[in-house]
Amino acid sequence: MKERLQEIFSHYKGKENELIPILQEVQSEFGYIPEEAMKDIAQFLHIPRGRVYSVATFYAQFRLKPIGRNHIMVCRGTACHVRGATKILEELEKILNIKEGETTPDMEFSLETVACIGACGVGPNIVINKNTFGRMNTRILPDILSSCSKSFGGKADD
Ligand code: FES
Repeated sequence: MKERLQEIFSHYKGKENELIPILQEVQSEFGYIPEEAMKDIAQFLHIPRGRVYSVATFYAQFRLKPIGRNHIMVCRGTACHVRGATKILEELEKILNIKEGETTPDMEFSLETVACIGACGVGPNIVINKNTFGRMNTRILPDILSSCSKSFGGKADD
């Protein structure tokens, strides 16, 4: 981790106003902001660790826990909501046995909601690992999950 952080820091001058772009780059690299990285960021920017932590927790874009190999986001925009996004979310919570914002213990799936993704016409939509699935219904969810993960009988890692 140290080496990857040093590589990220090499793009910056060590000024406090670089905190958010550094956090964004760290999250892009690791998928979340590890505790250890916050310590190193604070040292690099010569600011208290608490400042890094408070910024990382203030902005919803930053994640402080690792996400699963398959990152599922259910659109909670109005159009998708009207077309049944809540049922999709509830079904995913049931199938995966986790709540929104959580990750399965095997780190296979994380489940989150997201604001409108701009594909309202084909909602309700879910996004899995940056792939959008439109016209979603609860019947096809198991097949979609299978296509992502062996833990649902899929071949994703073959
Ligand atoms: S509300 Fe879901 S894509 Fe716009």
